[in-house]
Amino acid sequence: MTTAKANANLALVKYFGKRDVPLNLPAAGSLSLTLEPLETVTDVVFDDALEKDELLLGGAPVSPKFYERTRGFLGLVRELAGVSSMCRVRTENNFPTAAGLASSASGFAALALAATRAAGLELTEAELSALARRGSGSACRSVPGGIAIWHEGRDPDGGDSFAESILESSQWDLCVVVGIASEGEKAVGSTRAMTLTAQTSPYYPSWISSCRQDLISAQKAVADRDFTALGEIAERSALSMHAAALAASPGIVFWNGTTVEGIHLARSLRARGVEAYFTCDAGPQPKLVCLSKDVDAVNGALAALSGVSRTITCRLAGPARLV
Ligand code: PMV
Repeated sequence: MTTAKANANLALVKYFGKRDVPLNLPAAGSLSLTLEPLETVTDVVFDDALEKDELLLGGAPVSPKFYERTRGFLGLVRELAGVSSMCRVRTENNFPTAAGLASSASGFAALALAATRAAGLELTEAELSALARRGSGSACRSVPGGIAIWHEGRDPDGGDSFAESILESSQWDLCVVVGIASEGEKAVGSTRAMTLTAQTSPYYPSWISSCRQDLISAQKAVADRDFTALGEIAERSALSMHAAALAASPGIVFWNGTTVEGIHLARSLRARGVEAYFTCDAGPQPKLVCLSKDVDAVNGALAALSGVSRTITCRLAGPARLV
């Protein structure tokens, strides 16, 4: 049996648009923080005695949709390794599944590592990242640690569209406080949301061109350890992504009232000298990015919102690894 762990990641320059849907190739590059303690642990064993793949999530059988998606991914690993046996997969997340907390990212990164090793393959980090991308686009960014960029790439087969670390976890004391504003599954899946936005939102072309510019500026902010510049880019990227989705037809609203309170909270914290920036993904959870010196103040303020049932304080994590 092979066991791997991978952490979730949070994009500061968002990925929201695909140039190739089956291969999960992005319309533009993105930049993310790999975060602990948000983690998936996955065990894989190939077993000739199995007639079909077996999959348990948190000890329970999974939905048919989840099963098919995972089975498709395991088929890619079998093809790459030249293996035909079925496998038994057990996976656990220590945070809510599918509520805009990137469980598919840590999930497919951990599965890519555990399944390739169990099948006898030893991929480079870039190859592993490109493979994880096939499971869920953002999963490629949970393979490297610290701060990662996912390259837009040009190859039609996606070989050059993988993520790599631009800063290790020990090199900057960035924190993220996640406010849990709903533990339910998200209403619209991210692929559906991206496709609808690309097809119907009048803002989609300008959203994609803004990603390219933001990625260049964010890389410079990281190199200069300029938290103000990085935070401003992150807040703008999140709001622009949601603006593009809101303008789709029908409009995609990932937010609830607590999400909007999170936006105002970041601004009022900054007015009081606590540097916190808002971001949010394909779910309602408001996430505030700050430096470790301010994390207690940010956590206290976010936890005090009436719609926030609990908060999770995160720091930069290392790469996906075998256990
Ligand atoms: O990897 P997916 O298909 O779950 O897409 C995730 C997209 C966002 O979380 C909304 C943004 C991002 O870059 O992570």
